[in-house]
Amino acid sequence: TIKGFAFDMDGVLADTAKFHTVAWHQIADEVGTTWTPELEESLKGIDRMGSLALIMDAGGVADKYDQTARENLATKKHTHYRELISTLTPDDILPGMQKFLTELKAAGYQMSVASASKNAPFIIERLGLTDYFKAVVDPASVTAGKPDPAIFAAAADVLGLQPSEVIGIEDSAAGIQSINGAGETSVGIGDKDVLKAANINFGSTADVTLAAIEAAW
Ligand code: BG6
Ligand code: MG
Repeated sequence: TIKGFAFDMDGVLADTAKFHTVAWHQIADEVGTTWTPELEESLKGIDRMGSLALIMDAGGVADKYDQTARENLATKKHTHYRELISTLTPDDILPGMQKFLTELKAAGYQMSVASASKNAPFIIERLGLTDYFKAVVDPASVTAGKPDPAIFAAAADVLGLQPSEVIGIEDSAAGIQSINGAGETSVGIGDKDVLKAANINFGSTADVTLAAIEAAW
């Protein structure tokens, strides 16, 4: 029996994936990596330093940047990103998600956030969603980021639930891999070809309801 839901945040709850994209695109330009839709997709769900490494690998420039140079670029991206998210309001909740959270809460499900973002507590607060969640997993507390199962395993743990009792919701391939690896049921939101490993697929957040999930599982 399903008793809880673990939510990714960027691209699932919050319309913030576009801001990560804007800020990383600028860093890609700076290091000389061509920005492509495939590169953009591959960064979803990947933590900050991991994303930077993928951008450098894509441009074949990894050996030009030592640890200090990387940290400076990551800080630059982060500063730009913080500017972009400074004006977030509840209007930036993705379509249908507040209604879905309200529906889950009323039905007695436990909910947690499993985001790779260190900005998750700030963003959840800005969106006015704090009260829906029992916990926001601190990505710094897990041994490895997505696609490793650790963060979604922790998201079940903080709810006091077994993985088999949890549905994880994600918009990234790395995140779906993390959910599946943790032994939870995965819901993918977005391109079905990208998220083909998901147990249940939806094209957009607006399609996600408890009834639609029940019908699919
Ligand atoms: C994930 C995003 O949720 O968080 C990634 O999908 C991002 O794009 C990652 O790189 C880390 O975010 P932050 O806010 O800690 O830099
Ligand atoms: Mg995401």
